[in-house]
Amino acid sequence: MKNSLLFTGLLFLLSACVSENPVDHAASDYNLIPQPQNLKAGAGYFSLSSETTVSFDAENPQIGQSAEYLRSFLQRNNNIQLAETSKSSNRIQFQLDDNTAGPESYVLIITQKGVLVKGSSPAGIFRGTMTLLQLISQQSGQEGLIELPCVFIEDEPAFAYRGMHLDVARHFFPVSFIKKYIDLLAFYKMNRFHWHLTEDQGWRIEIKQYPKLQEVAAYRKETLIGHYSDQPHQFDGERYGGYYTQEEIKEVVQYARERFITIIPEIDIPGHTRAALAAYPELGCTSETYDVATKWGVFPEVLCPKEETFEFLENVFSELIELFPSKYIHIGGDECPKEQWKNSAFCQELMKREGLKDEHELQSYFISRIEKFLNAKGRQIIGWDEILEGGLAPNATVMSWRGESGGIEAAKQGHDVVMTPTSHCYFDYYQSVHPDEPLAIGGYLPLEKVYNYHPVPEELSEEEAKHILGAQGNVWTEYIKTPEQVEYMAFPRAIALAEVNWSGKDHKDFDRFTKRLIHHINWLKKRGVNVANHLYDIKTEVISGEGVSLKFYNLANEGIIRYSVSDTVTAEDQAVTRPVPITQSGVYTGQTFINGAAAGRSESIEFNWHKASGVPIEIAEQPAPQYSQGGKEALVNGVLGSNDRYGDAEWLGFSGKNFGAVIDFGETDTIQSVSFRFYHSPGQWIHAPKLVKVAISDSKDTPANWTNSLVRRPDSKLVSKAVEMKAQTGRYLHIEVINYGIIPDGMQGAGNGAWLFVDEIIVE
Ligand code: ACM
Repeated sequence: MKNSLLFTGLLFLLSACVSENPVDHAASDYNLIPQPQNLKAGAGYFSLSSETTVSFDAENPQIGQSAEYLRSFLQRNNNIQLAETSKSSNRIQFQLDDNTAGPESYVLIITQKGVLVKGSSPAGIFRGTMTLLQLISQQSGQEGLIELPCVFIEDEPAFAYRGMHLDVARHFFPVSFIKKYIDLLAFYKMNRFHWHLTEDQGWRIEIKQYPKLQEVAAYRKETLIGHYSDQPHQFDGERYGGYYTQEEIKEVVQYARERFITIIPEIDIPGHTRAALAAYPELGCTSETYDVATKWGVFPEVLCPKEETFEFLENVFSELIELFPSKYIHIGGDECPKEQWKNSAFCQELMKREGLKDEHELQSYFISRIEKFLNAKGRQIIGWDEILEGGLAPNATVMSWRGESGGIEAAKQGHDVVMTPTSHCYFDYYQSVHPDEPLAIGGYLPLEKVYNYHPVPEELSEEEAKHILGAQGNVWTEYIKTPEQVEYMAFPRAIALAEVNWSGKDHKDFDRFTKRLIHHINWLKKRGVNVANHLYDIKTEVISGEGVSLKFYNLANEGIIRYSVSDTVTAEDQAVTRPVPITQSGVYTGQTFINGAAAGRSESIEFNWHKASGVPIEIAEQPAPQYSQGGKEALVNGVLGSNDRYGDAEWLGFSGKNFGAVIDFGETDTIQSVSFRFYHSPGQWIHAPKLVKVAISDSKDTPANWTNSLVRRPDSKLVSKAVEMKAQTGRYLHIEVINYGIIPDGMQGAGNGAWLFVDEIIVE
């Protein structure tokens, strides 16, 4: 940050922060999120009341936006009406300092005499104003008076792109909620709102040239009840839908602009377009007609790359860019099955004519044509990482969601990247393993995992790393029906990601983050935000190595934790300070107590002790890094994986691979049965295996006497498979599990290798 900001700031601080007996503050008193880059605690307080005035350069209306935001915040939340004219010197000053510091940098100085917010741009002043609002939000005290602790803050973001997404197509949310969401993003210094406006299940933006997008594509006749994996599928029989008029869109864009947030609209093409095809079936490759989709997933019906389709899309994008000033227009590009193109004489002819070697290149042709159109209008495209397949459009930016590899590849090719991997950024995944959690798509992404994310992969050189613009949290709403539930799923994980993006990795300290976060959760709750508070919930970690032990903890790292075993409240119902050794079956339950009262949710974990519990295990192939949390020992720790969340520490996930293991009992033992559990969720490309093989041997080398057992395709999310053996003896248990293989046509993820998920291997 340029020195002039710092220098003027220090002068201001030294000249004004004087008092007879000021109270010294500690740096930990301020509870700001994101943590500023540089914060120096001051002494004493500034008294903010209806006597206080604001001053700013009236010539610059963009600075007035910050003053106006502060004014209305104080009125709404604190019942303070700032004075119109300056009678006293009690003043909050907004000042533009046009130096060369980053565009969102700011300095905030609070002394006993006044408040100064300086920024290198109006956006910087706004970000600094958010810091001021956070400080205001934490002061209680007498009505009409806020005592703000003196401080000097010099701050700027680590990443230029700090985003949150919202899918308004699977479920539709009113303008009033979109504005509330934008205010929450602003409060945490985010600057991009990715508005996912179209899907198979609904088209949510008015396009005047195509009225059937409103009349037909915006509504579905009913909606799936429960989880996609629950069979048979059942529907609610209720028509559902809605869309934003162009007037509403303009209002929201203006609302975001006043908060220095850019809205990136997404029209998802060429897949995820069943709703548009229901309205205009002539844009498809077949002569079929379609319904707007009523369940979730990936549908084979996609746009056909005909001239008529390009004309439609150019008209749609022309209306869109009139509404959205964003440089980026998101064109989707994800999950576009290619069967219809393979079967279309038109597509095959087009591929021949254009010299395209496969349907991936046809998708690239499709996206590149749209890119050319948008580039000519001064816009740039951003798309999901599938746009890399078949060749990336020349100027495209990539949103890396299927892990980080797409982002790494794009950055190496010199393209800009926004990181949003499912492993760390999908806030539609479960955030807690507690059984009371509302139904979610699956997966498991706890707060601490989001917080510990860093968007720049180590594989990138310094030069390549410059292409990583930042990270974005995604909120897909198949299973999120109400604004309250969006809030519950998005917050506080979005707050953790805000700190990842703004503060960078130098300030990372999860313990300190939760200490600050608890103040934010309390304030947000008071302000009617349905933020999830799991900070005092018991969390458990099964530790393997020398035997098995169980650690109880809470994220706040506060209070006393007590535990009991199988409802037996004995001497064991005592405060735990270290992991509890496990040597027998039982249900172990922990609970946090703060000042003697139970706080947060308890958690129970059941151990089913068997012959292989805590016994050494070797595995042939490593699981995928994102599904390997518990390590290989999780397979023999006596604990079953969750029936709903394949992402928890008990499940190991293998992408397209077989699973092999050798369990070493240390001495010859007698084995009668080996039982397996496999996750089965074809909607998420997870399939039960074809075959399991086991063998007992006194040799660690691969034996010949395998017992093979076929696995039947289950109709539920879990399949248990027991292999019974006539009491065999040996020191080693050898295991092989044969993956389902390539996912066949007609299923989600067709053409990709199936995921295989394995948890506890129970040996009796
Ligand atoms: C995505 O989650 N299909 C981008």
